[in-house]
Amino acid sequence: MLEDGKLYLGTSRNPDDSINKGEYLDLRYANRHGLITGATGTGKTVTLQILAESFSNAGVPVFCADVKGDLAGIAAIGETKDFLEKRAKTIGLDPYVYQEFPVIFWDLFGDKGHRVRTTISEMGPLLLARLMDMSDAQEGVLNIAFKLADENGLPLLDLKDLRSLLSYMAGETEKLSAMYGNISKQSLATIQRGLLVLEQQGAEHFFGEPALKIADIMRTTNDGRGAISVLAADKLMMNPRLYATFLLWLLSELFEELPEVGDADKPRLVFFFDEAHLLFDEAPKVLIDRVEQVVRLIRSKGIGVFFVTQNPLDVPETVLSQLGNRVQHALRAYTPREQKAVKVAAETFRPNPAFDCFEAITQLGVGEALVSTLAAKGVPSMVERTLIRPPSSRLGPISEPERAKVMAVSPVAGQYDEDLDRDSAFEMLQRRAEEAAMAEETERRREEADDEKEQPESRRWTLPGYGDDDDDGRSGRTSPKRRKTSKSRPGYKRQTVTEAAIKSMARSAASSLGRALVRGILGSLKKGF
Ligand SMILES: Nc1ncnc2c1ncn2[C@@H]1O[C@H](COP(=O)(O)OP(=O)(O)O)[C@@H](O)[C@H]1O
Ligand SMILES: [Mg+2]
Repeated sequence: MLEDGKLYLGTSRNPDDSINKGEYLDLRYANRHGLITGATGTGKTVTLQILAESFSNAGVPVFCADVKGDLAGIAAIGETKDFLEKRAKTIGLDPYVYQEFPVIFWDLFGDKGHRVRTTISEMGPLLLARLMDMSDAQEGVLNIAFKLADENGLPLLDLKDLRSLLSYMAGETEKLSAMYGNISKQSLATIQRGLLVLEQQGAEHFFGEPALKIADIMRTTNDGRGAISVLAADKLMMNPRLYATFLLWLLSELFEELPEVGDADKPRLVFFFDEAHLLFDEAPKVLIDRVEQVVRLIRSKGIGVFFVTQNPLDVPETVLSQLGNRVQHALRAYTPREQKAVKVAAETFRPNPAFDCFEAITQLGVGEALVSTLAAKGVPSMVERTLIRPPSSRLGPISEPERAKVMAVSPVAGQYDEDLDRDSAFEMLQRRAEEAAMAEETERRREEADDEKEQPESRRWTLPGYGDDDDDGRSGRTSPKRRKTSKSRPGYKRQTVTEAAIKSMARSAASSLGRALVRGILGSLKKGF
């Protein structure tokens, strides 16, 4: 199914239903991205499955999300089914080989795959703000929190790190506002509530260490096949924002970490973004601009991104225009809005005089699609009405024991299973506060001891009623010496833990000036410097 660096997608038909020719995806142009669209039940997931299979066989690692649990079968060998055999025969796929694929299962919640985590720091303020749907004011405050953490060497790893930093900030809004710009207590409280909601949704599992290593989703097997990373997303889809933010974070990580490769024979990784409309729904313009930028620039890192969604209108024009390889399954065209969508979908193709695109899109059968890929010199091929090939791996889900077996022999087995609670902002803030409080206490005792020592011999004697009996001013005539000492440490007992912490923070801020960390295109922390 691999021909001169091309992946076989299926076979096109002529208007009279006779066989036309094989349709292929050129590996050289797989980093020019793609789009798989169509209504529910028209064959998008199967198209994703056969593409993932072909990339794997070509030695290209794949990352994809399993939104409904029906993609997991890619880890198991295909089972003979009449309708699959029939499709194979119709399109002249002979032999029709069944095959299982090297799959690594991942899961943010750690149930259906190896745990995948990142740190708050790496996620960065832009994506976190998006995750929690923050207002501009709240996002501003979050930015200050990150700045504060960066400048003070406070690692923000998990949610409790961020929460302890924010509650520290709440105690110091005045001082910090003077240093960093306005910080409102209200915004802080709203962010705290947002973090609590995230925690309740199970996102606390996702933030922490060990963080996902990009190399682990770019593996190949000993026999030269690309590993297929399958992210269990059925539960994750209950929090669509977390789902979309996570995938976007992963894309930006790939973008930041991988070196430029220029034009290569094949991509280094292909990334499928299923339910891609979630990424763009209500997204602020700044985010869409960044996504557009990442998609445009990641090409030169050898990463192909394939968006999967129902409708091409789900994807903003600036992103859509960068998706060179198109597979359009059937769409309905009953309502005016649907008709508009079909019209847009039809107009994106290089027309084929043999048929009308608009009409074809509404008439396509299940597992059939309009296909146009980038051919020689990156020019889009003329659109063809194509019967997509049947998968070699199993169609549908796998059983729990099967999944457990795959996970047990995975190359990352045991590497991500346990949480690692490294020293981070939460512990450090706590410790700094304790240390500062202790230093104050020591200082106070020393002063007291000094007072004792400094007292001249004569003062060891008091004259009752002449102000020397040190009755805490009840007589109204305390000694000058005493009065001075108590003035020099006003209210030391009232110094709160946070007050002590800010002093210690301010000291280290001064010492680390100009050492602010570098953040990447989507605000995630850049590594390797
Ligand atoms: N290329 C194909 N070959 C054979 N059957 C297919 C093909 N594509 C889709 N089908 C059939 O259609 C069903 C629905 O396809 P699916 O990819 O799950 O749709 P979608 O993801 O668009 O909702 C599949 O379970 C399968 O029975
Ligand atoms: Mg599907």
